[in-house]
Amino acid sequence: MARILITSAIPYINGIKHLGNLVGSQLPADLFARFMRGRGHEVMFICATDEHGTPAELAAAKAGVPVEQFCADMHKVQADIAAGFRLSFDHFGRSSSQRNHRLTQHFAGRLAEAGLIAEVSEKQVFSVDDNRFLPDRYITGTCPNCGYESARGDQCENCTKQLDPTDLINPRSSISGSTNLEVRQTKHLYLKQRALKAKLEAWIDSKKDWPILTTSIAKKWLNDGDGLQDRGITRDLYWGIPVKKGDQPWPGMEGKVFYVWFDAPIEYIAGTAEWADAHGLDDAAWERWWRTDKGAADVTYYQFMGKDNVPFHTLSFPATILGSGEPWKLVDYLKSFNYLNYDGGQFSTSQGRGIFMDQALSILPSDYWRWWLLSHAPESSDSEFTWENFQASVNKDLADVLGNLVSRVTKFARSKFGDVIPAGGTPGAREAALIDALTTQLRSYEANMAAMEVRKSAADLRALWVAGNEYLQAAAPWTVVKSDPDQAAMMIRLAMNLIRVYAIISRPFIPDAAAAMMHAVGSADWTWPDDLAAAMQTLPAGTGFNVPENLFRKITDEERADWQQRFAGIRT
Ligand code: MF3
Ligand code: ZN
Repeated sequence: MARILITSAIPYINGIKHLGNLVGSQLPADLFARFMRGRGHEVMFICATDEHGTPAELAAAKAGVPVEQFCADMHKVQADIAAGFRLSFDHFGRSSSQRNHRLTQHFAGRLAEAGLIAEVSEKQVFSVDDNRFLPDRYITGTCPNCGYESARGDQCENCTKQLDPTDLINPRSSISGSTNLEVRQTKHLYLKQRALKAKLEAWIDSKKDWPILTTSIAKKWLNDGDGLQDRGITRDLYWGIPVKKGDQPWPGMEGKVFYVWFDAPIEYIAGTAEWADAHGLDDAAWERWWRTDKGAADVTYYQFMGKDNVPFHTLSFPATILGSGEPWKLVDYLKSFNYLNYDGGQFSTSQGRGIFMDQALSILPSDYWRWWLLSHAPESSDSEFTWENFQASVNKDLADVLGNLVSRVTKFARSKFGDVIPAGGTPGAREAALIDALTTQLRSYEANMAAMEVRKSAADLRALWVAGNEYLQAAAPWTVVKSDPDQAAMMIRLAMNLIRVYAIISRPFIPDAAAAMMHAVGSADWTWPDDLAAAMQTLPAGTGFNVPENLFRKITDEERADWQQRFAGIRT
């Protein structure tokens, strides 16, 4: 039994995620966690909400509630939606937890002791009316380059020129619109990432099995232009983790907080500590996942994220870990994803374009979405959601192939053989050939799942379902029963066992349907079919079974057209 640590990029607190976010991090992480648990490994799967920073503050202000309350409410909303999608986190934490406060301050203290923190005095725009420093992108003004009137302090959207807020003509606060702005002196902490460049490079170079998408992004940031930059890790904000050196005050840094990207990945660790707290366990319980001096040396750590998150996980967070000089676990395998597009354009949170997680669940159960998203995961390139494709995929793979097999077998068995799996008959060449074919296909599925090849895994699983269908088509128990009821009984017994195997191996993709299949064949034995021939004899004659409701329903053309229209424009 191996020990597997899995984290998914933690979603921002302000707002509900769209399906493109879901398929790029949390959902494939869940697939992998479920597979590893199914194989009998010890799994720790952690996610959380990413709560700090200006967007959360502004969203709370807009909603008219204190930011603490806003985050607590939104955390609950996101936790419920995650449960709706059957995301099987061991813990869904919060980056604003006291655990994360302490750990983030601890790391900052260690980095300071190691001489890796610089205190830099700089000029920053202060809004007198808002009584706060303004981040560059919260200053609006006229672009000196093209004259665009709504250019942001960091970049002009119109001509794409990189700007400094002091370049703007007629600058104003994007928060209040106030033009009462002053440039004030303020001090910030910088993490000296440059000093860690050689260590980071050696570490990245040692990762021979990482996907090209991951290493190429890391290398680009390591070597492009000026190369790795020292990084500001503090901000003049209210909402965040107060800047401290361990548990000691940090002179000159009063009233400042750590930058959200500094504390967010530390929440992977803190979230595991929150898990231990929630279960009344001691520190050793979470440290054995994270500290190589305390039992984590035999842990394999996997991270899942969209490609935009890769630099933070290959450079910034490892810089924090390596710089601390303490034996914390570094990621072993980083799985990153391209983008999912929506019906000829992009999913967009700011424009409300696409399908958001809560909306998806309001029209169809989670298995439908899980199957489509995972079987179309944007791995080697970006991929696209279209309603036609979604309808075709659900109707064919789920309803026609898998669902139909389960209902046909159980209904036929009930009508011809009664309440229990029938006895009689002898398996022959056709059955042996089926088991051979399934075994080969299953080994391929296992290998692809272990390698996190999500689309290939889905294709293998579909092929396994198809093989069962083809067997039944050829064996035709519904015809054979008229001349040779014993042989038909044997075929049905095999098919019942096959449904159980399908339940086990399909569970990472479609957990609810898997539970329904397992219930249908009257079993609760989820043992992975390492020996498929043996697994196909698990349910003996005489086992009671149930005829389930249809596992999947088809999507009609009218529904498709209706949804297409409903989700075409702006989310209200
Ligand atoms: N909140 C970020 C996003 O949605 C991801 C943060 S991942 C972590 O893109 F590293 F900060 F944990
Ligand atoms: Zn411009």
